[in-house]
Amino acid sequence: MKILILPASLRKDSLNRRLGTLIRHELEARGAKATLADFHDYAMPLYDGDLEQSSGLPDGAKKLAADLRAHDALVLVSPEYNYSIPGVLKNAIDWVSRERPTNAWKERPILLCSASPAGPGGIRGLWQLRIPLEGNFAHVHSPMFALSQAHEAFADDGSLRDEKLHKMLRDMLGGFIAYASALNG
Ligand SMILES: Cc1cc2nc3c(=O)[nH]c(=O)nc-3n(C[C@H](O)[C@H](O)[C@H](O)COP(=O)(O)O)c2cc1C
Repeated sequence: MKILILPASLRKDSLNRRLGTLIRHELEARGAKATLADFHDYAMPLYDGDLEQSSGLPDGAKKLAADLRAHDALVLVSPEYNYSIPGVLKNAIDWVSRERPTNAWKERPILLCSASPAGPGGIRGLWQLRIPLEGNFAHVHSPMFALSQAHEAFADDGSLRDEKLHKMLRDMLGGFIAYASALNG
């Protein structure tokens, strides 16, 4: 099982990237082959229908679509901005949705995770993130993981200080591997 982990933050000290690093470790411990992507590798202009008509998908969107197809499943680890989806991520979802005849979101098993210094942990943004992904017929896993107080949540070794929460993450990742395996046949 090959799983792409995509932290949707460009920030060097991103909390979502830290969570993505922990998720990579836990997926590999469960026998999956996990790739931690860097959103900088998918740089793309703002969606513009004229640009699409003249040049098709930009290289960053093509690379994201290719990386999605090269893996069996995706773990999105996204910040919440203003109770919603970060603009860079929504823009990437929109560009990739323009692939024809079909697009790389379709039937993709996806687990949604988030990290935030705030109490709700980014869960409001994750609910919003389901909409465009499910609109593109992605298989978004029902359980979601939102890490609150994320600036204080990590121990020096990258694990979660709260052992119960860490176990919840482990169990959710195990459940996601089973879900994605069943979907991939
Ligand atoms: C434009 C903007 C809007 C934000 N809105 C929210 C929000 O609605 N909810 C929340 O929990 N955090 C919000 N934050 C704080 C982010 O959760 C915080 O900056 C977080 O560290 C971003 O993720 P990162 O560390 O992976 O870059 C916002 C931050 C920015 C820059």
